[in-house]
Amino acid sequence: MAVLIIGAGLVGSQIARILVQDGETPVLLDRAPQPAALGEIVDLSKVKLIEGDVLQPFSLTQAIRDHDISAIVHMAANPMLTIGAQKDPYASIQLNIMGTANVLEAARVLGVKRVVVASSNVLNHHIEGGEGKGDPAREDAYARPISIYSACKQAVENIGLNYARWFGVDFVAVRYGAVAGPWGGAGGGGPSNVFRSMLQAALRGEEALLPPSRMEWVYSKDAAMGTVLALRAGALSQRVFNMTMGQLNGPAEMLAALQAAVPGAKARVNKPADGSPAMQDNRYASDLSAAKTHLGFVPQFQMPAAVADMAQWLQSRG
Ligand SMILES: NC(=O)c1ccc[n+]([C@@H]2O[C@H](COP(=O)([O-])OP(=O)(O)OC[C@H]3O[C@@H](n4cnc5c(N)ncnc54)[C@H](O)[C@@H]3O)[C@@H](O)[C@H]2O)c1
Repeated sequence: MAVLIIGAGLVGSQIARILVQDGETPVLLDRAPQPAALGEIVDLSKVKLIEGDVLQPFSLTQAIRDHDISAIVHMAANPMLTIGAQKDPYASIQLNIMGTANVLEAARVLGVKRVVVASSNVLNHHIEGGEGKGDPAREDAYARPISIYSACKQAVENIGLNYARWFGVDFVAVRYGAVAGPWGGAGGGGPSNVFRSMLQAALRGEEALLPPSRMEWVYSKDAAMGTVLALRAGALSQRVFNMTMGQLNGPAEMLAALQAAVPGAKARVNKPADGSPAMQDNRYASDLSAAKTHLGFVPQFQMPAAVADMAQWLQSRG
């Protein structure tokens, strides 16, 4: 019996690292595996890395059958997440919605019990409306997603919750904040890459560009830890969980963390990308109490620790 991780990138690699640390041999399925980047995070001799496409249902069912899969973590992502989905909405809809439908259907047919799917806390922030104040008789009862990516993630959560309600698929959605962390390959979202570039510039002694907005982040090691907790939790009475640092970090907090990790670092605030919702100000921090109560999730990395850990990792690679 093994865990199948679909999408071996920024977060999937950390999930694999934790499972290997715990003595498991996870199977990683990716359309375009990046073994060099993956090998920096997890011992490749302790995982099974296979090429496969979540949009090809039979490659998925074959992987589940061949490797005796007991649980699935679905992390496949469209390039650049929010920004990418605004550029290529159809590809994002295909991957997020149909990709997840394929995973849920394969789990239903083949009897895979738990399926943990990455959602996003864009669903806590990239939403508008809801003036009907929850009155289902009104058209505007609920706030609606304001980007293609958040609309996709909402669909994914809703479809997954109904697979749990009607078909016994033990679905869990984990809503990450903007993920930052060690990863030398292509992937991650806009903020993930801004975070990495900021530190790389500071370590080279160049002026670093700070993310312009006050946002919710999560360190990839915490996102992975929370996901593994969701994978292993007993019977769940709630199925959607926020996983962030639990507070907002803006340019001032980022600068303080950067200068603590890289003494003397020079930085300025990056100009916001025109019109992109990817790095908008968040108005509030998400409530982590459900993740703590049901899963035992408590983030171990606040921003100073995250920046310091990432700086150390970048330095260790030279
Ligand atoms: N990175 C963030 O800031 C962030 C924030 C919130 C939520 N999320 C969500 O977390 C999940 C993981 O994100 P990430 O940052 O690790 O992404 P990533 O881009 O680093 O990794 C995703 C991997 O999925 C693979 N992939 C893409 N299409 C595929 C397909 N059709 N079949 C199989 N594999 C495919 C890619 O090759 C890549 O290796 C995604 O669902 C993403 O939406 C990420």
